[in-house]
Amino acid sequence: MSVRGTAGPSVLAVTNRKGGTGKTTTAVNLAAAFAAAGRRTLLIDLDTQGHCALGLGLRPAPGPFSAHHLFADSAPALAELCCPTAWDGLDLVPASTELRLARHNDDDQILTRALAEPAIAARYDQIILDSPPSLDHLLFNALAAAHWAIIPFLPHPLAGEGVKQLSRVFFQIALRNNTDLRLLGVLPVMLDARIGQHRLIRAQVAEQFGEQRVLGGIRNDIKLAEAFAAGQPVRVYAPRSRGHQDYQALFGTVETCLHERSGSR
Ligand SMILES: Nc1ncnc2c1ncn2[C@@H]1O[C@H](COP(=O)(O)OP(=O)(O)OP(=O)(O)O)[C@@H](O)[C@H]1O
Ligand SMILES: [Mg+2]
Repeated sequence: MSVRGTAGPSVLAVTNRKGGTGKTTTAVNLAAAFAAAGRRTLLIDLDTQGHCALGLGLRPAPGPFSAHHLFADSAPALAELCCPTAWDGLDLVPASTELRLARHNDDDQILTRALAEPAIAARYDQIILDSPPSLDHLLFNALAAAHWAIIPFLPHPLAGEGVKQLSRVFFQIALRNNTDLRLLGVLPVMLDARIGQHRLIRAQVAEQFGEQRVLGGIRNDIKLAEAFAAGQPVRVYAPRSRGHQDYQALFGTVETCLHERSGSR
């Protein structure tokens, strides 16, 4: 049974079990867009690769202060793990890069309980979860805790299969463990509408999920990779770039969705 109440911050998971589909780039840049719009935002990195911290120019302090420590014995309170970033209104709970902390745990409500801490509800309006490219307890925890999920995918031949596999898990969790969970949409990343294969894969995904669930894509833009390497959101690193325009447009869509649904939860 879910321990989540109806009040508190909105929780959005960015997820796909396939690797390298733009999950972290999307999580970091959407989180930065929320913060820039005045929402008190917390980004939680559930992937032991620890890329969110790198993308925000942070080097997490060693010690038991990561999202993965929530899943260890004698877990700290989530509120103790939130680190400020260089950007107003944006905090990060970094990942641990210690693989032993990623060990399996059957309880898929750990994150839900942590997010229900009163200090988290008091401090934040928006939570963004970046998840690992695997079908494990961290992904189950993310989907059990989320109100919304975005599935970024690359318009490559295996993308449809990856999205299909994740959607099975998604709908299982939405039916059984978390009836609040909604698919905000599938997000084409590095999409080039001039390439026939990209149009074909996008059309296949649209057929599977419905055209209205395919979000406006994120075009290929080297500035997104450069911004990441510079440890800055693209809105700061290259505010005139295509990457920033596309993530700003995505933010607009996400915000509208959250708004429309906020009355109904
Ligand atoms: N729209 C884009 N244009 C160009 N490069 C991009 C774009 N989106 C992401 N990238 C680059 O592609 C690589 C993979 O992106 P990212 O790390 O966000 O994917 P991921 O799904 O989080 O990967 P993983 O599964 O390993 O966690 C990174 O080097 C990133 O900078
Ligand atoms: Mg990632």
